[in-house]
Amino acid sequence: MLPAVALTAALFAAPLAGSAPACDVTGGGFDWGFKESFRAYLSGSIANGEWTTEGGIGYETPVFTTDALAGDLALAPLNGELGVDGAMRFTGHEGILDTTISNLRLEVVDGQRVELVVDLRGTTQEFVEVDTADVLFATGDLAAAEWTAGEDGLLIAGIPLTLTEQGADAFGTYPAGEALDPLDLRLTTTADCAEQAIAARQSGAGMLAPLLIVGVVLLGVAASVVVHLRLRAAKRRSRSVNTQDE
Ligand code: HEM
Repeated sequence: MLPAVALTAALFAAPLAGSAPACDVTGGGFDWGFKESFRAYLSGSIANGEWTTEGGIGYETPVFTTDALAGDLALAPLNGELGVDGAMRFTGHEGILDTTISNLRLEVVDGQRVELVVDLRGTTQEFVEVDTADVLFATGDLAAAEWTAGEDGLLIAGIPLTLTEQGADAFGTYPAGEALDPLDLRLTTTADCAEQAIAARQSGAGMLAPLLIVGVVLLGVAASVVVHLRLRAAKRRSRSVNTQDE
C-alpha cells in the first residue's frame, strides 16, 4: 500500500513543484475593430456618420486601439482585470444615432474566457434612450485565440467576441450571440512570464491526465483494502469453524 500512497503524493506534488512563481501584469493594450459591418454602415451613405475616440483609446484604421490598459492581472494561471479610461463614440443620421461606449474593462476569468464590461450611453434602433454602467457587453473565447510570447510580453490575438444579452439590450440593434470583431490583447510582461502564461494555460488541460491516474490509483488502493479485509474475515471464520469441529 505504501508505494501507492507515495505515487499518489508524487503525482499531486509534480504539478505544484512545476508551477511558476507569480507573474503579474499591470498594463497592456488592445486592437479591436468593434464591428466591421457597423463601421461600414456608419461611414456609408445611409448613416453618413463617423466615430471619434476619447481618453486612452485611439483609432488607427481599421481598429480602435489603446496602450493604456491598467489593472491587475495574474498570468499563470490567467486571472484578473485590466481596463482603460477612454471611449468610442459612434454618430450618424445627423445625430439621431449617437452611441458612446466607455470605461472598457477586460475581466479575465481564466485561460478560457474573458468578459468585456463597458458603460454605454446612446439610443437604440427603436430610439429608446440608454444610459447604463457596468454592462457585460461581450464574452471572449481565449481558448480559440492565438497566444504568442515575445520580448514585448504576451500577445493573445484574434479573441472571438460574442455580444451578450445585456450587450444586445444596451446597444439595441444586434441580437445576443452576434459576433463582434475579434480582439487582439497585448499584455506587457517579460518573455519568461509570457512563456509561463502559455505553459499554465496548456497545463490546465494537462492536469486532467494526472488527476485521472490519481483517481484510478486511489480506487485500486480502496479495492485492495476491501479484498484484504474480506480475506482476513474469511480466514478468521474458517479458523473458528475448524476450532468448533475439533
Ligand atoms: C434615422 C434613423 C435611422 C435610419 C433611417 C436607419 C437606417 C438603417 C438602414 C437602412 C440600415 C440597413 C443598412 C444596410 O443593410 O446596409 C440600418 C442598419 C443598422 N442601423 Fe440604422 N437607422 C437609423 C437609426 C439607427 C440607430 C439610432 C441605431 C442605433 C445604434 C442604428 C443602428 C443600426 C445598426 C447597428 C445597423 C446594422 C449595421 C450592420 O450591417 O452591421 N440605426 N439602419
